[in-house]
Amino acid sequence: MSAEVFDFFPLSVFKDKIILSNSEKNLIKKFIIDSEEKSKKVIKRKGDAWLGDTRGQEFLLKNNIMNNLTNLISQKIKLYTEMLSLDNDKLIFFYQRSWATITKTNERIQPHSHDQSNISFAYYLTKPKNSGNIRFITEPQNEIAKGLFHKEKLDLGLLKKVNKRNTPNIDLHIEEDNIVIFPSKTKHATIPSTSNDTRISISGDVIIMLKDSFGHERLMPHFDNWQEF
Ligand SMILES: [Fe+2]
Repeated sequence: MSAEVFDFFPLSVFKDKIILSNSEKNLIKKFIIDSEEKSKKVIKRKGDAWLGDTRGQEFLLKNNIMNNLTNLISQKIKLYTEMLSLDNDKLIFFYQRSWATITKTNERIQPHSHDQSNISFAYYLTKPKNSGNIRFITEPQNEIAKGLFHKEKLDLGLLKKVNKRNTPNIDLHIEEDNIVIFPSKTKHATIPSTSNDTRISISGDVIIMLKDSFGHERLMPHFDNWQEF
């Protein structure tokens, strides 16, 4: 074949590891499970994971016991922006929201995106085998007809195989201690857990602002310059 194919415009998802001592992990686990207990009154749909951000627990990283983990996450966030060739020295970073998720057997997190933020992350404090990977969902760039790459087209034999060029979903394999970082606007979900053990993750949204907005039309200027009314 003489034709060349260029696969342009990747979505780059960053995965790394954060190793905490067992004692630190256990302390954080206990804190999160206690938070779940406190929000027992808030109704949760069957099959949904427990999400701290909608249970009044959306500033998790502000707790002192999270200080070390917060610093380690911050370092990874800055490696992520470096990977995108950004100059971190010109930016300031803020955790906007941060919360825990608890997933038990047959539970999952429905597709969603964090549209009010720039960068999102998930760190896996506990990740038992088969407790559900993270799924990224997109409208494929190559979808030349709406719905062309949906599963039914595969079942009907029109689509001969699924690959990177035609899939609307990619599942990323996750293990305990992993951190995954991605653009907040990216739609994502989790696969239902088939494990009998509980999966606990810590998620968060990060905002970036310009230290000096001179010459920049885009990106948020430092909030010191905002005018409240
Ligand atoms: Fe999310």
